[in-house]
Amino acid sequence: MGLISKIATNDGHGENSAYFDGWKAYENDPFHPTQNPNGVIQMGLAENQLCFDLIQEWIVNNPKASICTYEGVQDFQDTAIFQDYHGLPEFRKAVARFMEKVRGDRVTFDPERIVMSGGATGAHESLAFCLADPGDAFLVPTPYYPGFDRDLRWRTGVQLFPVVCESCNNFKVTKEALEEAYSKAQESNIKVKGLLINNPSNPLGTILDKETLKDILRFINEKNIHLVCDEIYAATAFSQPSFISISEVKSEVVGCNDDLVHIVYSLSKDLGFPGFRVGIIYSYNDVVVNIARKMSSFGLVSTQTQRLIASMLLDTIFVENFIAKSSMRLLQRHGLFTKGLGQVGITTLKSNAGLFIWMDLRRFLENSTFDDELKLWHIIIDKVKLNVSPGCSFHCSEPGWFRVCFANMDDATMKIALRRIRHFVYLQPNKGVEVATKKQYCRTRSKLEISLSFRRLDDFMNSPHSPMSSPMVQARN
Ligand SMILES: Cc1ncc(COP(=O)(O)O)c(C=O)c1O
Repeated sequence: MGLISKIATNDGHGENSAYFDGWKAYENDPFHPTQNPNGVIQMGLAENQLCFDLIQEWIVNNPKASICTYEGVQDFQDTAIFQDYHGLPEFRKAVARFMEKVRGDRVTFDPERIVMSGGATGAHESLAFCLADPGDAFLVPTPYYPGFDRDLRWRTGVQLFPVVCESCNNFKVTKEALEEAYSKAQESNIKVKGLLINNPSNPLGTILDKETLKDILRFINEKNIHLVCDEIYAATAFSQPSFISISEVKSEVVGCNDDLVHIVYSLSKDLGFPGFRVGIIYSYNDVVVNIARKMSSFGLVSTQTQRLIASMLLDTIFVENFIAKSSMRLLQRHGLFTKGLGQVGITTLKSNAGLFIWMDLRRFLENSTFDDELKLWHIIIDKVKLNVSPGCSFHCSEPGWFRVCFANMDDATMKIALRRIRHFVYLQPNKGVEVATKKQYCRTRSKLEISLSFRRLDDFMNSPHSPMSSPMVQARN
């Protein structure tokens, strides 16, 4: 008999996946423009770092909100002793208003239904505890965020059952795919308790259209199962068509049972605050609200954070400006990045949200297998020195897709990342050259050389880490 519990020693955390391996590769050799210019660039982290200037400006102009300041110290004692799992009323109100703003004020949220959790991570686990018993399953369309395996399954004993979506229709969640997954689960004697969707999608960067949302609502009502909608990327939608929340659509579906609908939200992506661990469960089911609130004792948001967030999010002018600027900057970054990839013939799934793109490298695989996908991924990490995430870690059904994050770095780093990708594509036998002719390649390179210091470029070209001198790439040649 082991000394440590089965839960503690099983690998339900998922730390052994390629997704987390990439992070380790980055941590062992992190890129720094001057101290480690040949290090690994972190493109596996879905963080929104494009608007910290706006946040910092607000913090400086509102010193009272931080509490541990000269202006805020008066509130220190009340903040330090407050410990109620309902959360501060002004915090719940502020989050509800923010959720409305992000949805274009087309819908209202009741602050009484806002339940706190330690990030969306905690929210998912609490909901899984509330809605399912060990062994029960949630259907989830693929490809999906790898963290779901940890969040919903690990400590709860709940299972995830894939709804297989395919590239031929841009990974659309179809009625047929939902029905097929449901039947397969039943054939395997698995009790389906719910469907988990992520809108906008990580890793696809796409949003679900109204008809799909309606189909999904009809499906879960027909089967009488729950619907958990992770809308954590709601405000990252940066161009048309605009994001549509499940909260806007449910009233349009005849006979929709609101008790089945639950939203997971967090400030980790839309505001770029994963460190604050502000997660939200918004359930339309009174029983779930009550139980989830009790469970939130295990993952409360600190009162200091609640106060700060309440002040910030009740500042309507700041919020409106932030949402507008953030989506504008994401649009710009997404445009630059996809254009750079397009110049060397790398296509990406058309997307208009998220902090990443879904990159199609299928033509670089020798064979269309997940083994070959991992081989290619190792070259990208070890030789090209970019931490991107392979599709298999998102349970993608087709090998050759990779998620690349673009909002967690500055412009200069993004340009270096693009340059490395260009080198890599150019050196692929008969694959890159056909689209990126030598002439085009040289033209792009000379443009980039203007914006980068020559020293750094030379360092890179002569570096043992440069793909130019990579034994693996040379072997492939
Ligand atoms: C779809 C999705 N849900 C949940 C999370 C977890 O977010 P949090 O930091 O709020 O726990 C992430 C983080 O990457 C995510 O992409």
